[in-house]
Amino acid sequence: MTPPLILAHRGASAYAPENTIAAFRLAHELGADGIELDVQLTRDKIPIVIHDDTVDRTTDGTGRVSELTVGEIAQLDAGTWKTEDYRGEKIPTLAQVFEELSDWLNPMGRVRPCLINVELKTERVRTDGLEQQTLNAISRYAIQHRILLSSFSPLALHRAKKINPRIPRGFLYDQTMPFYLRNALPRYWTAPQAMHPEYTMIDARYMEWARQKKLLVNTWTVDDPDQARRLAQLGVNAIITNKPDVIRGALK
Ligand code: G3P
Ligand code: MG
Repeated sequence: MTPPLILAHRGASAYAPENTIAAFRLAHELGADGIELDVQLTRDKIPIVIHDDTVDRTTDGTGRVSELTVGEIAQLDAGTWKTEDYRGEKIPTLAQVFEELSDWLNPMGRVRPCLINVELKTERVRTDGLEQQTLNAISRYAIQHRILLSSFSPLALHRAKKINPRIPRGFLYDQTMPFYLRNALPRYWTAPQAMHPEYTMIDARYMEWARQKKLLVNTWTVDDPDQARRLAQLGVNAIITNKPDVIRGALK
């Protein structure tokens, strides 16, 4: 059985401030096969990498991401909340991430290139342009083949599919999500190549169901070595973790 890919959740976010260049670089150093990151639009429609819909928890500023410009976001310190060592770390734009990781995205020799799982963070019924702007950035850097999109929003995945059906999509869900958002109909609209269930939902029966539907299974967020071994034995395709070094060690 092929071992699962190890994707660093918001970067190596157990150790470095989540969704920053420092966390993504550290993920590479710790042996991850790629990263997961969250993307949202600023007021001036620039895709930036942040999880929450406000900057309050992870920066020294306050306010909603959708009400701040990229210039205002660039002033914020996104490192110190984690530890003083990361003072000066910024919220990156998606383009800055692609720029900064170019060595990992296009490595020399036989090094495995980075896979970037771009999670479209939106609950909007009508789009603010997130899917279009994100896909524009991806094609500008010509890294379509290194990208896996995902979202808890079937609408966002559907919109992404309409814009560029060739970029693979992962259908994110957990047990708290209403059934109408995770039943067969939204799966039909979004035509995902992968399911991204929370790891507690996965057992042998689930894997058999996915195999029959020809769906890959990428799961989150797994920091426990025993869980990682269990999921690897079941045959999951990727494990999304805050601690890529721990999971790499567990799967040796
Ligand atoms: O993509 C897996 C995981 O990131 C989904 O949840 O809230 O951490 O973005 P969240
Ligand atoms: Mg995420």
